Amino acid sequence: MSTTALTGGTVIDSSGSRQVDVLVDQGTGQIAEIGTGISGADRTIDVAGQTIIPGFVDLHVHLRQPGNEAAETIESGSRAAAVGGFTAVVAMPNTTPCTDSAAVVNEILAFGRTALCEIKPSAAITIGRDGEALAPMGELAGLGVRMFTDDGTGVQDAQLMRRALEYADSMVVNDGTNIVLSQHCEVTALSQGGVMHEGEWSSRLGLGGQPSEAEELMVMRDIALARLTGARVHMQHLSTAGSVAAVRAAKAAGYPVTAEAAPHHFTLTDAACADYDTCFKVHPPLRTASDVEAVRAGLADGTIDVIATDHAPHTADAKELPFDQAPPGMVGLETAFAIANTELGLSIEQLVQVMSSRPAEIGGLGDRHGGPIEVGRPANLCVIDADEEWTIDRAQLAGLSSNTPFHGKNVRGRVRHTIFSGEVVVLDTKPLR
Ligand code: DOR
Repeated sequence: MSTTALTGGTVIDSSGSRQVDVLVDQGTGQIAEIGTGISGADRTIDVAGQTIIPGFVDLHVHLRQPGNEAAETIESGSRAAAVGGFTAVVAMPNTTPCTDSAAVVNEILAFGRTALCEIKPSAAITIGRDGEALAPMGELAGLGVRMFTDDGTGVQDAQLMRRALEYADSMVVNDGTNIVLSQHCEVTALSQGGVMHEGEWSSRLGLGGQPSEAEELMVMRDIALARLTGARVHMQHLSTAGSVAAVRAAKAAGYPVTAEAAPHHFTLTDAACADYDTCFKVHPPLRTASDVEAVRAGLADGTIDVIATDHAPHTADAKELPFDQAPPGMVGLETAFAIANTELGLSIEQLVQVMSSRPAEIGGLGDRHGGPIEVGRPANLCVIDADEEWTIDRAQLAGLSSNTPFHGKNVRGRVRHTIFSGEVVVLDTKPLR
């Protein structure tokens, strides 16, 4: 099957909204025709009442390969991504072994070649994510890595972070994109021993807490380092009102910072941990209602550039451990659009911006993802029904792990189809391979 026509729908991208059919060609991987009354395709999908948008791009996913293939693999994670409407994801480097060498980057790229979406590896800033010596960033950038992060931990040493920023800023890559350092903002001296947000609920539950300041101090430090070096810093998974305020002020001052927020941080509070259900354990932790409001406001006013899922699959065995011992993290790829569409009150145009166009730009993927939807562009698209109501069911998730905090939640908005490089990889919500 080489050509597919999407007929009767509405196209929305960064240039607006229009009623047109779209023909995609799996042979070239491109959008072959846009117009009305397209016929003669090998397959025609009636998308009347639905919206064709650029595929989503997730700057923050854990695919667990190499090292923990029981929790997820590149293939299974890409399937979850495709079901969620993502056509590109940036894989985090906290693999085993760590993604800090050409060998591991090449392994991830090789597995990614048959995936259901584009797999863009990120790599560690420091060797082994140990925070001591810089990884061979130049060599890894030569293999196509555009984001570097020690995600799972932040770079604690300010001098080392300064050097990493200066090094990244001096690197010239031949495709016109930037190298971006992406920071997990957490001062471990303050957060260690904490398994949830430090506050009323951690006291009630008798669990160690991580204060908001553990995140905010590193956000503020890295803003200062962006000012000092002039280099780009991307702040991962902002979770506190203080972090959002700091990034807002940094942007107003013109410093080169960008930021992301995860669906769980704009929907759930630390009260969700009340039953010691480890599906609600995550780093940074779920915070208070006023933090949730601040993250929403940050997304609405552009302080926070993108939604990133921090998809963090863990096996049922791992999540069955007691709360203080279970690994942190929640899956998010398949539910991100529905949660955002249900909870944020943003238009589809705004959601395209924060889930597709902006992350594609930041991740150095803008030539292939994020739109615009035009003839000759790579056919990386998804089709959504913004009004469909459905219930999230962990048993129906396409990835290998089911540690969603949203099981049983009624949501509005669903990804119906996903087209990756001209191939229909998800049809009527089901992956085709
Ligand atoms: O909750 C989290 N899980 N936060 C992280 O930073 C790492 C991630 C994981 O790898 O499971």
